[in-house]
Amino acid sequence: MNILILGSGGREHAITWKLAQSKKPLKLFAAPGNPGTAAMAVNIDIDPMDFNAVRKAVIDNQIRMVVVGPEAPLAAGITDFLEDDPSLGDLAVIGPRREGARLEGSKDFAKGFMKRHGIPTAAYDTFTPDTIDDAISFMRTLKPPYVLKADGLAAGKGVLIINDFDEAVSELRAMLGGRFGEAGSKVVIEEYLRGIELSAFVITDGRSYRILPEAKDYKRIGEGDTGKNTGGMGAVSPVPFASKSFMAKVEERIIKPTVEGLMKEGIDYRGFIFFGLMNIDGDPFVIEYNARLGDPETEVILPRIDSDFFDLLEGVAYRNLESRSIVISPETAVTVMIVSGGYPDSYGKGFHISGTDSVTESTLFHAGTKTDNRHLVTSGGRVIAVTSTGSSMESALEKSYSSVGRISFSGMNYRRDIGFDLKDGLK
Ligand code: AMP
Ligand code: GLY
Repeated sequence: MNILILGSGGREHAITWKLAQSKKPLKLFAAPGNPGTAAMAVNIDIDPMDFNAVRKAVIDNQIRMVVVGPEAPLAAGITDFLEDDPSLGDLAVIGPRREGARLEGSKDFAKGFMKRHGIPTAAYDTFTPDTIDDAISFMRTLKPPYVLKADGLAAGKGVLIINDFDEAVSELRAMLGGRFGEAGSKVVIEEYLRGIELSAFVITDGRSYRILPEAKDYKRIGEGDTGKNTGGMGAVSPVPFASKSFMAKVEERIIKPTVEGLMKEGIDYRGFIFFGLMNIDGDPFVIEYNARLGDPETEVILPRIDSDFFDLLEGVAYRNLESRSIVISPETAVTVMIVSGGYPDSYGKGFHISGTDSVTESTLFHAGTKTDNRHLVTSGGRVIAVTSTGSSMESALEKSYSSVGRISFSGMNYRRDIGFDLKDGLK
């Protein structure tokens, strides 16, 4: 089967890498892909947001399955566009239609959905420019810090957590005044949840689901979880505090009602659901949904799936996921993200990357690299995710950090403390 993976980051490289291990005869294509995917797939240089170009790539390469990596094409309706085109036959698309992608694309929709289905989440209300006075009154009923969320996709920058009331009010005015454009035309204000975060993931065919390994990511740029938010500086799976009993609560209170809720609302959801969770004294709450896998979470989740990953995707395509099983490795996987100096603010590009060929203990997932005159060079903020597995988190981390030490480029940065809060004694 010919499969097209849409996207160009570490997540998409990891998906391609995992599918390349399938026992089934698969021919893989990545669009646009990166130098990492080029080693195991045919890269097609198109933008996943250019739906007509994607359609042409599907036809030209006799693609039978499309796996959508990032959220933007999902929210813009790539799945509807491809599925509703009769000339593409029974092309399978892994990733929800626009309606289902609203779980991620609209915070207001996601909160309403959780309320309708009794899924535990922070108390909230939604406001528009016309109801700004009500928003301020609502904020007076909350204790600081105040959590303000732009309704729509805002490239990870749409959530503000502010301690000071007056500052929160002025930020609220700026958001509703158009700072995030259309994405901020509605703002969700919610109660602050105090706990420890982790993420759970499922794949679903719209009726049944399989739970993938959980993960914890490290979002802040600085060690000790300080400084600005990034796309993710590293991740660990499994998460030590995600015990069997905690995960059973996640399944009963969150995963099942979410999949059943989608069915009840007539939303045909086929793809991944990413649950951003807060563990509050052993009880799970949903912070957010995403309609895709996480990046860099995918770089630690997929290495822990021992069964054939393609089998799960095929179960989604044929809507018989209930007959497919997943085998998860007990090993720990960690990833350390190597980033460009300056990221997440402005950074330079085009620096030569050396040492990747000498890495043997880890798997390198390319995130922001390109090939320039046969040299590997940096082309993004997050550059390479260095993933390792081991019988313990410590042994996996040792391998990743030793591999990181072999790689260099001008301005290279990374966090030296991935997993710091999960080490023995700190659980
Ligand atoms: P998001 O962009 O939705 O992933 O939110 C960014 C981060 O804000 C989350 O990963 C949490 O760390 C934090 N956050 C979001 N909502 C809440 C909340 N209600 N209480 C506490 N922290 C939150
Ligand atoms: N690492 C967080 C995300 O993919 O949204």
